[in-house]
Amino acid sequence: YGANGYNCWLGYHLLENGELRENYSQWASNIVISKEPDEIKIALSELKSGINGILGVDAVVVTREPEQSSCIALGVLGRGQNIDSYVKYDEVVQIGNEGFIIKAFKTGNSEIVVVAGTTTKGLLYGVFSLLRLLQTEATISGILKIENPANQLRIINHWDNIDGSIERGYAGKSIFFTDNKVTEDLGRIKDYARLLCSVGINSIVINNVNVHKYESMLITDKYLNDVASLAQIFRDYGIKLYLSANFASTIEIGGLATADPLDPQVRKWWKEKADEIYSLIPDFGGFLIKADSEFRPGPFTYGRTHADGANMLAEALEPYGGLVIWRCFVYNCMQDWRDRITDRARAAYDNFMPLDGLFRENVLLQIKNGPMDFQVREPVSPLFGGLQKTNQLLELQITQEYTGQQKHLCYLVPMWKEILDFDTMAKGRNTSVKKIITGSVFNNKLGGMAAVTNIGNDLNWTGHQMAQSNTYGYARLCWNPDLSAEKITDEWVRMTYSNYEKVVNTVKEMLLGSWRTYENYTSPLGIGWMVNPNHHYGPNVDGYEYDKWGTYHRADHKGIGVDRTVKSGTGYAGQYHKDVAGIYEDMDKCPEELLLFFHHMPYDYILKSGETLIQYIYNTHFKGVEEVEELRNKWFSLKGWISEEIFLHVLERLDGQLEHSKEWRDVINTYFYRKTGISDELGRKIY
Ligand code: GCU
Repeated sequence: YGANGYNCWLGYHLLENGELRENYSQWASNIVISKEPDEIKIALSELKSGINGILGVDAVVVTREPEQSSCIALGVLGRGQNIDSYVKYDEVVQIGNEGFIIKAFKTGNSEIVVVAGTTTKGLLYGVFSLLRLLQTEATISGILKIENPANQLRIINHWDNIDGSIERGYAGKSIFFTDNKVTEDLGRIKDYARLLCSVGINSIVINNVNVHKYESMLITDKYLNDVASLAQIFRDYGIKLYLSANFASTIEIGGLATADPLDPQVRKWWKEKADEIYSLIPDFGGFLIKADSEFRPGPFTYGRTHADGANMLAEALEPYGGLVIWRCFVYNCMQDWRDRITDRARAAYDNFMPLDGLFRENVLLQIKNGPMDFQVREPVSPLFGGLQKTNQLLELQITQEYTGQQKHLCYLVPMWKEILDFDTMAKGRNTSVKKIITGSVFNNKLGGMAAVTNIGNDLNWTGHQMAQSNTYGYARLCWNPDLSAEKITDEWVRMTYSNYEKVVNTVKEMLLGSWRTYENYTSPLGIGWMVNPNHHYGPNVDGYEYDKWGTYHRADHKGIGVDRTVKSGTGYAGQYHKDVAGIYEDMDKCPEELLLFFHHMPYDYILKSGETLIQYIYNTHFKGVEEVEELRNKWFSLKGWISEEIFLHVLERLDGQLEHSKEWRDVINTYFYRKTGISDELGRKIY
């Protein structure tokens, strides 16, 4: 599998630098463990195979300290074993139940590298962290690294259907399901669990939020045993399994006439369902629920609130420590385009703010990063900083539904950094999204991040091999949102391709600029959409303009954009904390990249750069295509430096991206030229 990207960042190629390899091997060739290797079995085998791949040595494992040789000392702390003597009290107390310590020190002529956690899971994270240090040629001598994850819940969402298809999937079919059955290829599931564990993911939802007929049966005896086998594989790697459930399960599979959350029979049914699930999967994570959203059933049918709905399920899972993750993607998807009062952007906040404080302790609200739907540019959802008494999860989309569908290179880490760093001002300066979701700002018991995955059963997992960087980057940000985009990217390139500076620098440049490039040739200044309906690939400026989804740009011959101000528009800007609202409300203060999201602007409006709005649209679209040409040239300069198979595969994708970016450029420019009659100042070709 080596050359085609199957192993992703765990490919473990031999380090190029021979001297460094020697150096590391001096201590990495001996692994010292305690007498009872059972609880560390997986950590040990991961460590051995990693060392073998990276350093080319077959490490010897011994159960006591070798008298004079350097070694790795591996173990779980607090079990009264040798490993305890290497870690000081003030260090141990800093290691949480998912944390680890990596510590290197000299005794005499030997060097001991301690890798330990206070749990088996923490130890696994420590092992993968040490391997990452080796893969990226870090200095280990004298290191003292104690890490704990910033977020409690670090979740991957699959939109996999049980027939094997994946909603918004661009990398083949489901790895979990085929032909209405759970897969028998458990080897691949194990490889997936390893990948996720290596970057600290601790929760997975294996089926689509849209729970159809067969998926509703996942919580019946038809499927539960098979689901339990999947849970076992993930459990070994510290990952809890969750299911998306149908809110109307009592009707669909329970034989009841109602799904009313306040109906005693409904409540009883769910409690018994929980008993059944937990008897097979004792550490079952819980349910992810999409209710009253895009035609999915929910509590509104019965005149109940989303708090009523979520709390009913939460009560059933509570005795087992299970969680209810309730999505806030609730809006009117039957809007009349003539209606300028209703604003989809307002919907999540309008629906959920009144419920703040009404949810049980084991409920989390899962909130999409923006108020619309994973566009290339959106403001941050005002629910962050709005909600105070409710557990929250930030939902991101790794799968590139609106960002090039893994045919285009679009590295999303820089966008996610902006979202995480966004200052809601909810409790004065420095109330960033990343702090809020940890729960620390408002003392919420639970919190974290979830993202819709981009993986499928393509041999390289993500369709576009370089899209693996988005999976990697997401997970690293869950672990530590303070890592810079630059650092995460550096790690990924070194682990995936090589440590040669030429490769590292070139690929980093490609990745880090690619989101902005994509934005340049697609929809401008935060307005979003302009895509073909349904599949959402390719330009269609009016594709959603006269439709019912609440996604309009309102362009005419004089101007474009949606007035979302309080003064004269939909009032959306007023959902933010007043310091932020004031900025969005004022077209001169509004960050330019979001100008058309908040304001309807004339085409001759002068931007900060001195360009008119229309000229900016032309300029960025010509520039975007030129940048894709550069992307291709950069990649081409790596011929001979990357495995031939991956080199050609990525080249082919970049060729396709180049062609398609021209289509975007020409459709958008032509649309606005025809609408306005204003020519490009530089006289470039517009049709
Ligand atoms: C988007 C996407 C749907 C998905 C929905 C959701 O609208 O296009 O396929 O079901 O988001 O997040 O629930």
